[in-house]
Amino acid sequence: MLDRTETHRRIETPDMKDYGVYLAVDRLLGCQKPLADLCTPDELQFQIVHQVEELWMKLIAFTLAEIDGHMAARETMRVLTLFDRVHRLMRLMTDQLALLETMSPFDYQSIRLQLGNGSGQESPGFQLLLTLPQPLWARYKAVYLEPEGRSVADVYDSGYRHDEAYMVAEALVEYDELFQLFRAHHIQLIHRSIGMGSKSLKGRPVELLNAGARHRFFPELWDIRAEMTDRWGAEYGVKRDSISGHGAPGHGSGL
Ligand code: HEM
Repeated sequence: MLDRTETHRRIETPDMKDYGVYLAVDRLLGCQKPLADLCTPDELQFQIVHQVEELWMKLIAFTLAEIDGHMAARETMRVLTLFDRVHRLMRLMTDQLALLETMSPFDYQSIRLQLGNGSGQESPGFQLLLTLPQPLWARYKAVYLEPEGRSVADVYDSGYRHDEAYMVAEALVEYDELFQLFRAHHIQLIHRSIGMGSKSLKGRPVELLNAGARHRFFPELWDIRAEMTDRWGAEYGVKRDSISGHGAPGHGSGL
């Protein structure tokens, strides 16, 4: 039989050999509430998931600053490799939200009473991440577009070469998309735990988060796709003639 008290004791007093010392495991495991003070066993998971997400956001912000430096030096291979890391981190962040779906709405209500009027919107990592795309975009333009007098339309359409400027732009778009996906999944998590139409601990309607989930960091990289669809489609107008001779297709079958 498992000795619960002894297991808790060992969790809270890790054996600090070189591995533990290098990784500061004692301090890391001391960042959560003492196990004896948890309001419900699920509170440990709640704290750890949020703390791990803060760590991933720290690594993303750090990596984006590295990317900016490599862009400045036009080291595109390094830029793309590091963007791949950032994308994987964003996917991890989104996947890890699902852990909290194993918490019952009942258990969450007691945890929620512990949070004061705290809000995820106060997350230092998230607030920092919101400020980084704009300077990254300025760097992208200064390095990949302006010196060659190119526009986004050149890179994607009129002068399309599937070159470095295109690859880095697609890495930016992917980051944008993954960030939105995180926000959208987080809203689903809220619906599942405190319900649709509820209010945050600051009294704000949860629906306000929808605007953030629709926000695009790099609107020019999204707009170009719609401009291309309009320009390439101009030859047939609004609706194209059938190529099978079978008349008008039903709604929803357009490509
Ligand atoms: C049961 C789980 C969760 C619930 C019920 C929840 C609830 C909420 C609510 C109600 C808000 C809006 C706050 C306001 O308007 O002041 C919010 C925002 C936020 N939460 Fe959570 N949250 C949960 C889990 C998480 C996790 C695991 C993270 C990890 C990063 C997180 C990060 C954020 C962020 C970054 C915001 C601001 C989002 C934005 O502005 O788009 N939340 N959360």
